[in-house]
Amino acid sequence: MSLSIIILAAGNGKRMQSSIPKVLHTLGGMPMLEHVVKAASSLDPTAIYVIFGKNGDCIQKQLSHLNVTWIPQQEPKGTAHAVLQALPHIPDDHQVLILYGDVPLIKSSTLKQLIASTGQNQLGILVAKFDNPSGFGRIIRNEYNDIVAILEHKDATEEHLSINEINTGILTASSILFKEWLPFIQNENAQGEYYLTDVVSLSSQQQIEIISILAPCAEEVTGVNDRQELIYLERYYQKQKARALLLDGVTIMDPARFDTRGELKAGKDVLIDIDVVFEGRVTIEEGSRIGAFCVLKNVEIGKNVIIHPHSIIEDATIADHCIVGPFARIRPMTALAEGVHVGNFVELKKTTIDQFSKVNHLTYLGDATVGKNVNVGAGTITCNYDGVNKFPTIIADEAFIGSGTELVAPIKIGRKAYVGAGSTLTKDAPEEELTLARSKQVTVKGWKKNK
Ligand code: UD1
Ligand code: MG
Repeated sequence: MSLSIIILAAGNGKRMQSSIPKVLHTLGGMPMLEHVVKAASSLDPTAIYVIFGKNGDCIQKQLSHLNVTWIPQQEPKGTAHAVLQALPHIPDDHQVLILYGDVPLIKSSTLKQLIASTGQNQLGILVAKFDNPSGFGRIIRNEYNDIVAILEHKDATEEHLSINEINTGILTASSILFKEWLPFIQNENAQGEYYLTDVVSLSSQQQIEIISILAPCAEEVTGVNDRQELIYLERYYQKQKARALLLDGVTIMDPARFDTRGELKAGKDVLIDIDVVFEGRVTIEEGSRIGAFCVLKNVEIGKNVIIHPHSIIEDATIADHCIVGPFARIRPMTALAEGVHVGNFVELKKTTIDQFSKVNHLTYLGDATVGKNVNVGAGTITCNYDGVNKFPTIIADEAFIGSGTELVAPIKIGRKAYVGAGSTLTKDAPEEELTLARSKQVTVKGWKKNK
């Protein structure tokens, strides 16, 4: 049967105390709503409808890459009212699945199980058992253990409040059933809202069978209402990611101090020390080690690379056997070939460095192309910017740049050229020659200090 999915995301999210809509708050670097859309998409639905509220412009703009249909709900009058906004768009013979935009960790496998277990003329609900069910709708069962109703916390009596089986909010039935039920739902309750949960008592009255599936773990169905809950799920999510990597042969020194805000792929025997943050797409091949306190964003790292602590690397590729840091800053469009060494307090921007070259101390290279086996001395600076334009620096194979050199671009240093320490070069240096550009040292004989 064709599937249509409705994601509810029009609630106010007041408790986030934020000017950003709740569903745009991120988990593992991705907006909560995008996590839900990803899980929804994995079910191959005909359409995904997202119900948005007053911050809808902002949500649509930021998530315009998602393949969903955006549907406004002018006022948040309750979950049944929200579903009603999408229902006219959905053909009668579709199965409908309701998800929440603020329940980010719901798994595709659980949703598949719920749908597979729910027959055509049945209502399927995902339930959970919580030690502390406070705030949730309680599942009410009769003496035969059949579900007969869901009672919202605010409408429940003392007797019902002790029930620890709760409604996760995720449910499924055919479009035609929802179309029959929703017009009957009233808002005479503690919150004055149209409750979607009332479909349960309606279907029970009509003797439509109600199937329940128990969520495999609490975190998967935990909704986010405030930042404490968001960060609780964030830590859970990060530990799950760390666990998967550990089982795949990656050492993570402390899973509680590990953060990936994107997609991290790491090979066997990779070691990740404490407090490393990965953003975007990062791949690390076998045997490489990432030191403590590094930040890596969109980086490809080859085999047996060592990244020493406190290095910040973004949009770069680092080939096998390189050694980087500590305290290196590698900025976008930089590529290091095999066996390159980049040491402490070195900043590289839009620079390629060929095999086995060394840039070991206190250096800035920008818009530079460095050949093989080059040695760049301490304190070398490419003067690549004149305040308006950027200019390139080329350093050919086996050149040697003495310490404290300034290379005023555009400039080319020839093959096997030798540049004397402390030079400020404004013209090309020819290959295989020594080039110097510094004022001569003088000693003033007989000089005396003023008394
Ligand atoms: C709801 C359920 C409750 C369940 C709990 C699980 C109802 C009546 N209650 O309660 O049984 O235990 O979720 O977390 O359904 N939303 C809209 N438009 C609205 C109202 C809500 O889009 O008019 C969206 C919210 O953004 C949110 C979801 O629906 O994503 C749930 O709404 P919320 O107000 O959080 O419902 P709860 O009181 O938590
Ligand atoms: Mg809620």
